[in-house]
Amino acid sequence: MEAEKFDSPFKGRSLLTWADYSPEEILQFLDYAILAKKQAHNKEIHQRFLGKTIALIFEKRSTRTRSSFETAFGEEGGHPVFMSTQDIQLGGKESVKDTARVLGRMFSAIEFRGFKQEHVQQLAEFSGIPVINGLTDEFHPTQALADILTLQENFGKLKGLKWVFCGDGRNNVARSLMIISAKLGIDFAIFAPKELFPPKDIQDLCAPFAKESGAKIEISDDISVVKGADCLYTDVWVSMGEEALKEERTRLLKPYQVNKELMAATGKENTIFMHCLPAVLGQEVTEEVFESSASKVWDEAENRKHTIKAIMLALI
Ligand code: CP
Ligand code: NVA
Repeated sequence: MEAEKFDSPFKGRSLLTWADYSPEEILQFLDYAILAKKQAHNKEIHQRFLGKTIALIFEKRSTRTRSSFETAFGEEGGHPVFMSTQDIQLGGKESVKDTARVLGRMFSAIEFRGFKQEHVQQLAEFSGIPVINGLTDEFHPTQALADILTLQENFGKLKGLKWVFCGDGRNNVARSLMIISAKLGIDFAIFAPKELFPPKDIQDLCAPFAKESGAKIEISDDISVVKGADCLYTDVWVSMGEEALKEERTRLLKPYQVNKELMAATGKENTIFMHCLPAVLGQEVTEEVFESSASKVWDEAENRKHTIKAIMLALI
């Protein structure tokens, strides 16, 4: 019975960025995630990945994403196989294209966390099986769905909300939140220094989605942009692979820290705080805000697992 509820029209597709999905399709994934979470909290046991395998490729480190994929797939009877760059030849001795063709013969699906979006695209193109983007330099779509679920749980709605990403507006999380907000009609702003505004191509990509959904997308280095925000969101100032830029980032981003004053600048009583984690306390967020009752970061982290299970159930 329950398995039929995940008998989705998306079987066989990949998730590389939410730009490839319609608003209705994204909301369908959200419904699946709500159901997966309910089932988990009811302690239901299902074996919906029995006889299935997934390759989990990680060029970059991970706590939440790896744990979510590995536990969600395994507890449903599937066999996840973790592969770091220490273990496989990807992009080194063997091309991504060839790796894709081999894995496509042996696995039911692939998750990829790494540097280049081009690589996750090649895996999808040449493996012939569903590929899920577990984070690249450009996008982090599974994170964005968990964040939408967290918003929905806290406010009981999505339309009419406004959230603001404070910090490195070019990074993978900021871009993914912009895309999913533009698709779903949620007002979204980036509060960042001009040097770290998202690139024009991503703004151009989102503009027609926002026009269609009615979402208001703003990008500003003026603090007034946080006014009216239901949620302030931040991420590390230095993403994986950019460690050499630490000093410059700290200098540029200090005024964009989420602290008590910035929370108050929203002018709202019930503004929540979200962070994809891992967090560097004292940099992008103060310990005071991170540990406050406004902070929803642990629900958000838990939601990674339910949303990732839902995405796998829908695609594989
Ligand atoms: N938010 C997130 O992707 O966490 P990990 O890097 O621990 O997977
Ligand atoms: N922007 C961060 C996200 C980590 C989940 C990074 O890429 O390191």
